Amino acid sequence: MRAKLLQANEENQLKLAARMLKEGKIVAFPTETVYGLGANTYDEEAVQNIFLAKGRPQDNPLIVHIHSTEQLKEVVEEVTKQAEILIEHFWPGPLTIILKKTEKIPLVVTANLETVAVRMPENHIAQQVLKFSGIPIVAPSANKSGKPSPTHSNHVIQDLGEDIDAIIEGGYTDIGIESTIIDLTSKVPSILRLGKITREEIRLLIGDVHVTTKAENTPKAPGMKYKHYSPKAKVIIIKDQKEIQQDNTSIILQYDNAEAMAKNLFRDFREADQNNYETIYVKEVPKEGIGKAVMQRLQKASQ
Ligand code: TXA
Ligand code: MG
Repeated sequence: MRAKLLQANEENQLKLAARMLKEGKIVAFPTETVYGLGANTYDEEAVQNIFLAKGRPQDNPLIVHIHSTEQLKEVVEEVTKQAEILIEHFWPGPLTIILKKTEKIPLVVTANLETVAVRMPENHIAQQVLKFSGIPIVAPSANKSGKPSPTHSNHVIQDLGEDIDAIIEGGYTDIGIESTIIDLTSKVPSILRLGKITREEIRLLIGDVHVTTKAENTPKAPGMKYKHYSPKAKVIIIKDQKEIQQDNTSIILQYDNAEAMAKNLFRDFREADQNNYETIYVKEVPKEGIGKAVMQRLQKASQ
């Protein structure tokens, strides 16, 4: 394998990861949502290498990761009042905000958009790497395009072990689905991707918020037009286990609650495909809180 494996509990290894990133290498690291594949935001060649390694279409922009609100000023032109409120409540954490970019941000990062997506992760390992490097780090989810986001370093090894420079091994991620994305550049703010932080929580703080997670409504969310991950197996959502006749070509996934489904669904999809199941039955969870975001991903996988 090409990728060097780094240990999250050794500060020296995190410092090495930060140095590698500064020098233009691409390094995967855990966040509280999913593993990200990092590169130096200001190194266009390194950013380009992320698109190549993932097989990611060039017109799908990346999220810039930062460790302080000081660093935010390097990245965005203006921190709006709404952004200030959301940052105060949700950062560090699983919320990505979209604002107008500064000139410093290369267009390869934003796929030629004048806006940039920014997030301050809460995961301690991610924070340390960001601090040690001192630069904003672009990081898409560390999977091959078309695969589910990785929630363990082993998933990154499976997908990208031969294609990237290093992987920080930090166990399972806490949340298991990607961050909520909100565009704050439109007149009424718009959620482009559902996540742990809900529309209701956001609405309580800043008022009216649209949800536009479908490609046809959102020319501004280039990522949404690409086919979402679905396993090779047919995914069928069930309300009750009694509905089905199970045999050895199928598997049933059921979870105690929405949090557990969010945390484990992508891993379980990967494992089901590795075991060549033909059908995956998944017992639904209530569409409340993170349940809405995870059920939406499940619905897409079942189409
Ligand atoms: O939780 C997460 O957000 C993870 C971790 C690693 O931080 N990252 C992640 O990145 O999910 P990625 O690249 O898999 O998804 C980023 C999404 C894409 O759908 C992309 O189209 C959208 O963010 N995006 C990025 N910049 C944008 C912009 N300026 N305007 C609209 N959408 C943008
Ligand atoms: Mg992704």
